[in-house]
Amino acid sequence: MSRHPVLHLHADLAGASQALADWVAASLRAVLEQQDRASVALPGGSTPGLFLAALGKQDLPWKRITLLPTDERFVPADHPRSNERMMRAALEPALLAGAEWLSFSSEEPSLSLEDFAAQLGEQVTRLLPLSVVVCGMGEDGHIASLFPGDEAARMLQPAGPSIVPAFPIGLEPRLSLSAHVLRGAQEAALLFAGEVKRQVFANALRLRDKPVTLLLTERRRLHAFVAEQS
Ligand code: 6PG
Repeated sequence: MSRHPVLHLHADLAGASQALADWVAASLRAVLEQQDRASVALPGGSTPGLFLAALGKQDLPWKRITLLPTDERFVPADHPRSNERMMRAALEPALLAGAEWLSFSSEEPSLSLEDFAAQLGEQVTRLLPLSVVVCGMGEDGHIASLFPGDEAARMLQPAGPSIVPAFPIGLEPRLSLSAHVLRGAQEAALLFAGEVKRQVFANALRLRDKPVTLLLTERRRLHAFVAEQS
């Protein structure tokens, strides 16, 4: 039976974001006491900007840390819909301090989504298990680019690709860390805001019917950083 999540409730997104940045930094320090390098997968979207900026300012041995997105829209890195552009801007102090950035943006426009996913997957596999994964959550209970009903959201076995292509209806094609990579992280956290998502999360915990619940395991607790006000 997977363990219940730890709920970190904050009045606003600024408070939840700072608390999550402090938690990620403490988790990375703990990992780096045991191993030479650490890795952290971070979310895109509209919620995590304050969190990413607060994380980038943390006093950490960034040269020993690899940063990567949980997922990316299959667009050029400078495209307005690219997560990478927003994330690298917010994380600039960490990148300037030597953190490695594993890009999910293809430099080869001729490469198909599937071929790039396979190539990128080999790079991610070399990092496994990820030290820390932080996901946002959509109002449909998706995390990364694993959406309700996706076969990929059910592939929890440790075998299989580390990166999966996704084709969400009405959105750009995407690349996502696969379910077993997200689930297998040594530490895992969520960041979301507002009453609608709080209800979605509560229902998902009860019904276990949404991709977000793949982050619940017997091995470690999921930490949910929740802002009451979105
Ligand atoms: C993305 C994210 C995605 C996001 C959720 C929540 O590429 O959009 O990685 O998984 O975390 O869709 O997005 P918001 O924070 O914008 O609600």
